[in-house]
Formats: sequence, structure tokens, C-alpha cells
Amino acid sequence: MCGIVGYIGNNESVPVLLEGLSKLEYRGYDSAGIAVMTNEGMKVRKFKGRLKNLEEGIKHENMVSSIGIGHTRWATHGEPSDVNAHPHTNINASIAVIHNGIIENYMEIKEYLIEKGIEFKSETDTEVIAHLVDEYYEGNLLEAVNKAVDRMEGAYAIAVIAKDSPDEMVAVRKDSPLIVGLGEGENFIASDIPALLKYTRDVLLIENEETVHLTKDKVVIYDDLGREVNRDIFKVTWDVEAAEKDGYEHFTIKEIHEQPKGVKETLLRRLDKDNNINLDGIKLTKEDLDGINKVYIVACGTAYHAGLIGKYAIEKFANIPVEADIASEFRYRDPFIDEHTLFIAVSQSGETLDTLASLREAKRKGARIMSVVNVVGSSVARESDDVFYTWAGIEIGVASTKAYTTQLVAMYLIALRMAEESGKMTHEEVSKVIEELKTFPEKLEKILENKDFIQKFADSQFNNERIVFMGRGLDVSVAHESSLKLKEISYINSFSIAAGELKHGTIALIEEGTLILALATQQKLFDKMLSNIKEVKARGAHVVSIAKEGDTAVEKVSDEVIYIPETMDELTPILSVVPMQLFAYYVSLARGNDVDKPRNLAKSVTVE
Ligand code: F6R
Repeated sequence: MCGIVGYIGNNESVPVLLEGLSKLEYRGYDSAGIAVMTNEGMKVRKFKGRLKNLEEGIKHENMVSSIGIGHTRWATHGEPSDVNAHPHTNINASIAVIHNGIIENYMEIKEYLIEKGIEFKSETDTEVIAHLVDEYYEGNLLEAVNKAVDRMEGAYAIAVIAKDSPDEMVAVRKDSPLIVGLGEGENFIASDIPALLKYTRDVLLIENEETVHLTKDKVVIYDDLGREVNRDIFKVTWDVEAAEKDGYEHFTIKEIHEQPKGVKETLLRRLDKDNNINLDGIKLTKEDLDGINKVYIVACGTAYHAGLIGKYAIEKFANIPVEADIASEFRYRDPFIDEHTLFIAVSQSGETLDTLASLREAKRKGARIMSVVNVVGSSVARESDDVFYTWAGIEIGVASTKAYTTQLVAMYLIALRMAEESGKMTHEEVSKVIEELKTFPEKLEKILENKDFIQKFADSQFNNERIVFMGRGLDVSVAHESSLKLKEISYINSFSIAAGELKHGTIALIEEGTLILALATQQKLFDKMLSNIKEVKARGAHVVSIAKEGDTAVEKVSDEVIYIPETMDELTPILSVVPMQLFAYYVSLARGNDVDKPRNLAKSVTVE
């Protein structure tokens, strides 16, 4: 999704903007641009394609400047092009704007401006902001931006600079992320912390509907009623290196390898030596739990797939009915919610707009709000009653890997804690599951040691355009996640299915050479899976099964088997997904794709 960055201070703005934009690349983009105030006036430079096009394009230019804004665009209104790239300006280029989000009523504003004689250069919704600010600008930038924002509907984070106000910048947040970085004689804005880490660790997290006025020495935050707001400084404690590739070819493979550590961190931070689960940010008491008769787990994409496992775990361990739903559906379907409902949002970024909107809807109807979030201080976290941080560390690869496995650990811990607190499981029973989870970092390492075998297998299949994932029970959710991973980074038209559903229609698609990845990790469904594997083999499929060590019966019906270490059936997803992530990665690599930044996708989906 679009990334924004801004600088005002005693130093040169251009290097800061370019560095910031490079750290926002992971969000996904198709063009990049900057606007800086120089002695020769406002200079706006923007180019379709990668950031290096922008760097090349300005390399011989004199762009001495101490105030500027920069943007990576992920096209929504209008194709990716130089003209549609941000920043956008008013007619005489005295006002420049960058924007992340969507202005929903931009057509209406555009018509109004066209009637006033404004000629639009781009197809974007953003351009209306520059003209609107211009219309209201009478020497006071803050006032002009406030008036423009009053007319805008939708979700946005914007930053504005003006030629005639060369010592100030104004930024506004409504439903799209925005942070401020504080320096000595310089201040910054950005969509995300990594953009600023080279320069500062002191950050102000901007809340919804707040406006920020920045000069080089001062930052003032205003709420939606124009009142000044005090905000504590948020100290970023993680390292810049965490956002680097660290010798790996891609962030995706680095993050796949970080899973043993992520799982360990997520787990051990919550356990004492007697395996008591201490969910620090979660205050659910026994009385609270007694009052809950229904749980919704709501999320998007991979996080939703983690929610499906969460549903299984809470129902199985804590015995409470759970519905898992896709946020973009949940928010519009008027679900039954009351004060006895627990709503759990799952989100790596904590900024996914549909998830946030679902959370607000559930809150409005009286639910208690819990969230499982990776990014500390993100919107979902801030708007929740209880937060479980996953401690996966920053995830840069667009395809979510370590966030998913740590979300699974979170879901298990929440389920086990609910089970023990409500008396559905004894401490000994819970402790047994915990002891098994504690072996997972080592078991994950063992799976990763097998990566050469998976690479060879991926190299032999990378041209196969028919790849199907199937499973039963918990394995169905892993099949969905595995298929999504493959689709998004390899662009292969794969699908996933509950194996028992095959003969109700989909088996018609199986033919000679179709690759079936059959997840067969669930003991009570093992024989049924063997039958399903035979069914597809009989129709010419090439079957690679994923099974637990010791379940050798699967070898007789499969072409190849990938083994995962033995564990309890309830916990297999954390292990079985890893070979599937590696498979997706190596297929993508073999096809020459941009693994970390797959086409059309963005890391943080802050629009509908
Ligand atoms: C897929 C992927 C997406 C995200 C989804 C939700 O690999 O990363 O499907 O899971 O966009 O994002 P978050 O978790 O940030 O809410």
C-alpha cells in the first residue's frame, strides 16, 4: 500500500526522503515521487516503477532543500504512471500533497473544482486535495488543510507543504497509518517506523482524525475538534538490522528461517517456570470468561487462516463456540453481537482497514475486543481492550510467514488460558500441551534443515500450472494457507480443498500431472486421507504428501512424502505449514518472480 514520508529540518531533505521510501518499499508500490522546496521553488519529481527510477531521475539535479515529502504509490485510482504518481500539486505547483488511502467523495469534489475552472492533470483521487488546499490557502497552511479535510470523506493519511509556508508541514490521519519522528532541529513523518529508524527512535503515534503541525523545532498534534493533544513519546527499541536482509537473498526466506525464534519468543514471554500462561496485555478474568458465550475471530488473508486454527483451538480446549470470519464480509453482514461476545481481531500489521472496521463494528455493538497483533502501537492494538503481541519482529516480505506461525502460537495460548481459567482443562492438561509447544523451535529447525529437498522438488514442479492443496480437519486450514502462499508469490492458479469435498465436483479438475500436496497429519482422519490420495492418484495426479514421522503408510500411496516431526495432532499446523512456505518460495524463485514484492500486492492493506 502507499507509503508516505516527510522531512523538515536543518539537513538535506532529499537523502532522508529516499532512505525513508526505500524502507517503505516492502509495503508494495508501482511508482515513487518527491516534492521539495528549493531556492528555485517547489520541485516535484515522480516516476513510474521502482524507486531507482526516481533516484536516477534526480541524480544530476540540484535539489538543495530542507523540507520535502515523498511517496510510494500503489495504484487505486488511475493506472501506474508518472502523471498519476504522487506528490500532486495545485495548478501553479505551489502546494504539494502526498496521500495514502482513498478519498471516497473525490468525484463530487472534482466536479466542483472543474466547475471552478480547474484542469486536472491526473486520474487520481489525491489531486483534489491539492486544489482544495489551494482554494482555502490564505497564508495559513494549517487552516487551509483543516478546511480541505472537512470536505473529504474516506480513509487517508496526507502530508502537505506549500511554497509560501516554507517552514512548516501539515499532516492528517484518518484510518490510514501515520507516525511522527522527533529529532534535534528536525522532525519527520512517515507511514511506518522503519522509514525513520536511521534518524530517530523517538516516535509519536498519531491517532485517528488527528492533525499534526510540524516545524523543524516543534510538533503540535490537534484532535478532530482542533484541541491540542499531549502524546507520550514512543521509544522504538528494535534494531535497524531487523529490517535488513542479513545475508539472505530475500526477506521472505529470511523470515521463514526466523520462525523458530519467533515461535520461541511468542511462547516463552508468556510462560513462567511452572507453565502458567501469563498473557500480559490480556486482562480476561474467570468472571469475564463466564460471561462470554460466543467468540468471533475476524481477520483477512493469512491472518484469517490463523483465525481458523484459533477457532479449532478455542472450541477444542475451552469449549466455547467460535465463528471465524473474513473481515470484509463480517463488517457488512450485521452479525449477532452483544456484551457476551468476545471479538478477536488477528492482524500482523494492525492497520488492515477491513479488520479495523470490523473491530469498530463489534465494539459499537458491545463486544469485548481482543487482538492478536504484531506491530506494537498499531491501530488495531490501540483500539482493543486486550492485546496479545506476537513478537515475530518486523515482517517485510509481502507474503506473511513468521507472522502466521506466531499468530498460531498466540491462538493456542489464548485457547489454553481460557480453558484453564474457566476450568475446562486442569493445569496438568494445559502444561502437557505447553511442554509440547516448547519443543517446536527445535522441530522447526529440523524442518528447515530439509530445505534443499524442498527446493529440488520445487525446481521440478515450477512450471506446473495445476497445483492443489488438500487435507482434512486442521489440515484444511493449512491447505488454504499453503495455497494462498503459492498463489501470491508464484502466480500459479492453485486452489485448496477439504479432501472430502473432492468428489462433490472438484475432482473433475484432476488430470494427468496435476500436482497434489496432500496434508495427512491428523491421526483420526489418516485412513480417510489415504483413500482421498488414492482417488486422485487414480486420475493421474502426482501426489506429494505431508505426514508426521512414523506414518510411513502414506509412502505406499504417494509419489513422495515430506515428513514433519511427530507432535500432537492439535498442534501440527505450526509445523506442516513450513515446508509449504518453502515450496512457495522456491517455486517463485525458479519462476524469476519478485518474491518479496509480488505483483499487485501490498504488505499493509489500508484501503477497502
Ligand atoms: C498473505 C498476507 C495477507 C495478510 C492480510 C492481512 O501472505 O500477508 O493475506 O495476511 O492482508 O494483513 P494483516 O495481518 O496485516 O491484517
